[in-house]
Amino acid sequence: MDFIPKDINSYCEKYTQREDEVLYQLHRETYLKILRPRMLSGHLQGQILTFFSKMIQPKHILEIGTYTGYSAICLARGLKKGGKLHTIDVNEELEDFSNSYFEKAGLKNDIVMHIGKAIDVVPKLDVEWDLVFIDADKENYINYYNMVLPLVKKGGFIISDNVLWSGKVTQPIDAGDKETKILVELAELINSDSRVENVLMPIRDGLLVARKK
Ligand SMILES: C[S@@+](CC[C@H](N)C(=O)[O-])C[C@H]1O[C@@H](n2cnc3c(N)ncnc32)[C@H](O)[C@@H]1O
Repeated sequence: MDFIPKDINSYCEKYTQREDEVLYQLHRETYLKILRPRMLSGHLQGQILTFFSKMIQPKHILEIGTYTGYSAICLARGLKKGGKLHTIDVNEELEDFSNSYFEKAGLKNDIVMHIGKAIDVVPKLDVEWDLVFIDADKENYINYYNMVLPLVKKGGFIISDNVLWSGKVTQPIDAGDKETKILVELAELINSDSRVENVLMPIRDGLLVARKK
């Protein structure tokens, strides 16, 4: 579902700084060669992620769900000098593709890619996070939130993507639809969690931003 009318979205894209050549090619090659290209963050959300990151100036970023590396590049562009972005994906077939774009973006030394299930990898990373971007399997979103919140610095951020789930979160939920159920439960959990303050932004498929107090 497109939440923003197409003409408004195009207008917003028109007056948002253009994707550079690396992100343009990454977007294009993903659509040409990789399954489920709509998973990629894209121009507008990508630029918003870059802005968040530049405003926060994080030293350590954790991303759960690399896919072809679009959002990783966008987020890593706001890293403090010497900072690192760790990104995790379970799909090893995407590793060479995304690494090649990290190199083209000049971020090879700033981005560390981990292959495996995020639930197993995150506890092995001994890092205190300034910014976490959750964009992987929806069934685990509550597990990811509960797992990373204690690892986030005071004043740090957790951004969860796809929390509007094409609008399904506002409709009656089918009995077998675990993903929508979890996403609504996550929104409830974050909204009533006294450890954070939060805002749900209707950007693309919904970004739920929580800031640790
Ligand atoms: C929506 S895509 C990520 C898109 C990317 N963040 C972007 O904006 O360009 C979700 C990714 O999560 C990965 N994924 C699914 N389950 C996972 C798990 N248990 N652990 C780590 N990654 C997982 C998938 O392989 C897929 O590449």
